[in-house]
Amino acid sequence: MPLVDRALAGRVLNRGNRSVVVAAVAAIECGPAADIADIGFGGGVGLDVLLDRGGAAVHGVEMSETMLADARHRFADAISRGRLRLYAGRMERLPLDDSALDAIISTNTVYFVPDLAAALAELARVLRPGGRLVLGVGDPEQMTKMPFTRHGFRLRPIDELISAIRAAGFDQIEDRRVGNGRRAFHLLVCDLPVI
Ligand SMILES: C[S@@+](CC[C@H](N)C(=O)[O-])C[C@H]1O[C@@H](n2cnc3c(N)ncnc32)[C@H](O)[C@@H]1O
Repeated sequence: MPLVDRALAGRVLNRGNRSVVVAAVAAIECGPAADIADIGFGGGVGLDVLLDRGGAAVHGVEMSETMLADARHRFADAISRGRLRLYAGRMERLPLDDSALDAIISTNTVYFVPDLAAALAELARVLRPGGRLVLGVGDPEQMTKMPFTRHGFRLRPIDELISAIRAAGFDQIEDRRVGNGRRAFHLLVCDLPVI
């Protein structure tokens, strides 16, 4: 797909995901001085919502060069003012220091991560003690019915996700729902122990 079409696809995704991403940002419950990252930011709606909060720098990690190029263009002003730092990288090997962040959001990403344990260990590594991860996933039962999820998606049961998150060291995990009905979107709000 040409670069401009992929960027457009990212913006279309943004429109569909905005309410979920807004709920994920609200769930971090951090003050304005907190260091926060959006991992797998895609079309950039999470970066947009995080930047709107004001305060400390926002960090964005993406493996797609297309999404990175689009975000560099779209958020050029925030980058030049030092409010936004973008990094090329994968969730399984994050280009961030140990304990660098207070909170992380990552929505609609883990379907594309083969080694979930490695990714969760990395998310735990870059969070400070007491840090919060908000992982957003569509309801697997609902997503199974969508034809596009037949290729390239790993639709893990929510219980399996929660067990993997616990194994990575998060001790408080809450499954908050966004939307109506038993197939509403899942926001897994996960806290590391304070120590
Ligand atoms: C469906 S989009 C979701 C974008 C955005 N988080 C949202 O909810 O609108 C998935 C994004 O995750 C990125 N992604 C997939 N696997 C990843 C990985 N292992 N590490 C980092 N990003 C990843 C993709 O490049 C893509 O931009």
